Amino acid sequence: MMKIAVLTGAGVSAESGIKTFRDSDGLWEGHDVMEVASPEGFQRNPASVLDFYNQRRRQLLTVQPNAAHLALATLDQTHDVTIITQNVDDLHERAGSKNVIHLHGELLKVRSTYDENLVMDWKTDLNLGDLCKNKHQLRPHIVWFGEMVPMIEVAAAVVEKADAILIIGTSMQVYPAAGLMQYAKPEAHIYFVDPNPSISENNRITIFPEKASTGVPKVVELLK
Ligand code: APR
Repeated sequence: MMKIAVLTGAGVSAESGIKTFRDSDGLWEGHDVMEVASPEGFQRNPASVLDFYNQRRRQLLTVQPNAAHLALATLDQTHDVTIITQNVDDLHERAGSKNVIHLHGELLKVRSTYDENLVMDWKTDLNLGDLCKNKHQLRPHIVWFGEMVPMIEVAAAVVEKADAILIIGTSMQVYPAAGLMQYAKPEAHIYFVDPNPSISENNRITIFPEKASTGVPKVVELLK
């Protein structure tokens, strides 16, 4: 069965109503990354960081997967698909995708500040005083800037084995996620869906310079 690796970024969830980070009116326009998405920021002002993620978690529970998530999920029926997402939403899973690797964590999970392997589901607000079973403060299960990306080796191994690679809705600016393409087999074709593509087309790369909700179904049809 043909193996497909799909690398997604915030752009795949944009049409579900979730802001991207670097587009105009993006999330990082309204917030200082180092204040709300770094261990130092959490140390300095934990309540403010918890509130930032509470707002994003509340919004996530009000949105739905879009046509791009749904089209990708149908590929599971005919191909061996692994979604490698930089997104912390659960829209790929809700659309029905079976194999999803979250490089940057998950908004609907929290973890102990003391033991990063102590992770649990969490769908409500997380506040100061919400403690793990060992009585340590809980924090969002998000990979903050400056923290290790534990799943990157697993993701690289998926890309190495892929016969085709889809890159959807990412500015390819944040490493190590942006460096995953270096692991692709020379013969693996790359399909890039983004209205403002950050790479150029060549004999290995086909670009769909359009939104995910129209571009992804086209790529999925091509692969079926
Ligand atoms: N469909 C497809 N792509 C879109 C759409 C859309 N409707 N709208 C915007 N895009 C594209 C933009 O053109 C851009 O290339 O999505 C990309 C979004 O880029 P970023 O905002 O930088 O998001 P992303 O690449 O996912 O950021 C990576 O940076 O801040 C960190 O941890 C955060 O996971 C995030 C990482």
